[in-house]
Amino acid sequence: MKKIFPLSFYNPVTLTGAAIALVSFGLILFLTVVETFSNEHKPYMGIIAFVILPAFLLIGLALVMFGILREHRRERLGIAHKHRLPRIDLNDPRHRLVFTIFSVGTILLLVFSAFGSFKAYEYTDSDEFCGTVCHKVMEPEYTAYKFSPHAKVGCVKCHIGPGATWFVRSKLSGAYQVYAVLANVYPKPIPTPIENLRPAQETCEQCHWPQHFYFEKKILNTYYISDEKNTKWTFDLLMKIGGGNDESGVTSGIHWHMNIANEITYATLDSSRLEIPWVKVKSRDGKERIYRERNNKFSDEKLLNGFVKKMDCIDCHNRPSHIYHPSRKSINRFMSIGAIDSDLPYIKSIGVTALEKLYTEKEIALDSIKLIINDFYQNNYPLIAEKKKKSIEKSIKEIQNIYSRNYFPEMNVSWKRFPNHIGHMYSPGCFRCHDGNHISDDGVVLSKDCNVCHTILAQQYEHGSLRVSLEGVEYEHPVDIGNSWKEINCSDCHSKN
Ligand code: HEC
Ligand code: HEC
Ligand code: HEC
Ligand code: HEC
Ligand code: HEC
Ligand code: HEC
Repeated sequence: MKKIFPLSFYNPVTLTGAAIALVSFGLILFLTVVETFSNEHKPYMGIIAFVILPAFLLIGLALVMFGILREHRRERLGIAHKHRLPRIDLNDPRHRLVFTIFSVGTILLLVFSAFGSFKAYEYTDSDEFCGTVCHKVMEPEYTAYKFSPHAKVGCVKCHIGPGATWFVRSKLSGAYQVYAVLANVYPKPIPTPIENLRPAQETCEQCHWPQHFYFEKKILNTYYISDEKNTKWTFDLLMKIGGGNDESGVTSGIHWHMNIANEITYATLDSSRLEIPWVKVKSRDGKERIYRERNNKFSDEKLLNGFVKKMDCIDCHNRPSHIYHPSRKSINRFMSIGAIDSDLPYIKSIGVTALEKLYTEKEIALDSIKLIINDFYQNNYPLIAEKKKKSIEKSIKEIQNIYSRNYFPEMNVSWKRFPNHIGHMYSPGCFRCHDGNHISDDGVVLSKDCNVCHTILAQQYEHGSLRVSLEGVEYEHPVDIGNSWKEINCSDCHSKN
């Protein structure tokens, strides 16, 4: 048999290396072809096709080189060349049988590994994979996501999606992530990818049409004060969401003002975007107006060299899918639907206290929550602890569930670390700009008027009279804090315990 390659090629190490390299190369080709012809975009295919398989290809080639070099060295040392490879004689029936079995086996193996890597690749695209297997570290995001309005929208739809540049970028950062997880050097929590998050036009706006008009939306909120009776307080809001399109002309509301007619740009030095001292509006007719925060320490020049961004959906809807609810909000909600018994004295207060303690591990937290609440009733209300045992148990279970869905001590994740910018109660949100403290050169103030963004339709204190007005009733703070709710932001008090 005539040999194509130099003699030094024919040694087991080199041949094994060549086989590995060939198979990897074949798989890369196969995946590339599948990728080209499939009409659905498969972002994670890249990690396999362009990161993992090439690594095997390189290992294969390295083995080839190593084998050849070793062979040369042996030759120099005068170690005799023997026939290290078997001779195959297809006229010999035994050889023929072995050869057939071997060839068929190899072909089957190749087909199966092609199929297998395709399946593996498909799996890396699934939400389960994104959220759990590779990204165990993303448990907080995955858990919050499962309970969000976008639970049926794949992670990749918002984070990776179509488009060549984003593909390459996410592949590179994906490869780094694989390394970071394996080497256990990832940050806790995982930071918000503000700079390389895909722009809203390529994500949100693929499903939600920005020109679409949204009607006003009524939101009914029920609150409980932290007193013995858990005094109830209701509050109806009509959110002026709005929107508009070129056809029907100018309409009003939150969306119209922010996105369609006007272009708003802001500058900040703070990577969490909680402080926004500089805002520019360019209206449809091209007029510009700049609002600056009163008493702002920084010059325009410094700010404009910081983080400057045109405002889009994510500047308000920053938590469309990873929503970590504040403890008060969750407890109010579960009390209002009866899941937590509002007849238990001080349950609001003790529930919030138990949730907000700093724990180091989830298991410890769940045990402590149970202990704190049980102890509280046994020590202060022994009769109730006895009589309402079932109800206390059920309330504890609900509060533990709230913890599991919203707090991730191992990753340092909670609502305080990832505030939601919609609203203004638990984080500055809209009041980052609309705090009555941002003023333009011609003296216009970004208003904090309570009926600009929503109309307060009704307010009722537990046994007080119901105050209703379609024009908006004047706000009354549930506990007497004087005028300070007008002077400072709600979140200055409410983001604390
Ligand atoms: C509806 C769109 C959407 C979906 C679906 C989505 N995300 Fe996100 N995700 C975002 C946005 C927007 C941010 C950035 C938030 C910000 O700017 O404050 C983000 C941030 C993150 C962060 C950074 C940490 C943080 O909370 O800011 C991680 C990690 C993450 N997402 C993982 C996932 C995983 C895993 C899934 C699927 C289980 C997923 N995302 C699904 C929109 C989405
Ligand atoms: C793949 C399509 C898709 C993408 C991409 C998407 N959404 Fe959605 N979104 C939906 C669907 C579907 C719903 C309705 C869910 C329901 O009502 O059950 C929804 C609901 C919403 C709601 C209403 C939530 C509520 O409380 O009812 C908001 C706000 C929203 N999306 C904002 C966003 C933002 C911001 C982004 C970009 C970060 C985004 N969406 C990306 C499909 C999408
Ligand atoms: C100025 C902040 C702001 C911006 C920017 C913004 N929104 Fe909203 N959006 C809101 C508020 C506030 C609501 C009412 C939310 C609520 O009360 O639950 C809302 C509601 C919505 C809803 C739900 C409507 C409903 O009937 O429940 C969708 C969907 C939505 N926004 C999508 C978008 C998309 C897509 C963009 C980007 C093109 C966007 N928003 C930009 C503030 C904003
Ligand atoms: C980055 C700063 C910024 C943030 C954050 C912001 N806005 Fe605005 N908003 C503006 C500016 C600037 C204007 C335009 C004021 C003008 O007319 O010059 C405006 C105008 C509005 C208007 C129209 C007011 C009017 O006089 O008709 C509404 C409603 C509104 N915003 C709602 C919201 C809501 C709701 C949020 C939070 C979800 C929010 N904004 C967050 C900067 C901001
Ligand atoms: C710049 C727009 C804007 C202004 C001004 C504004 N709000 Fe709001 N408010 C919102 C938005 C957006 C929400 C969130 C609605 C939601 O929960 O989806 C909200 C929610 C609320 C809530 C319910 C909070 C919760 O999560 O339980 C209360 C109470 C409230 N506003 C009171 C006020 C009062 C009082 C004022 C006047 C000092 C005021 N708002 C001014 C935009 C505004
Ligand atoms: C000076 C601090 C302070 C400011 C500012 C403030 N609050 Fe409060 N707020 C309190 C205190 C204290 C309570 C009573 C807490 C309790 O009983 O659990 C309270 C209770 C509430 C409650 C009912 C309890 C609950 O479940 O949270 C609501 C709703 C509320 N405030 C809304 C607002 C809104 C809206 C603003 C901004 C317009 C605001 N607060 C500004 C101190 C403040």
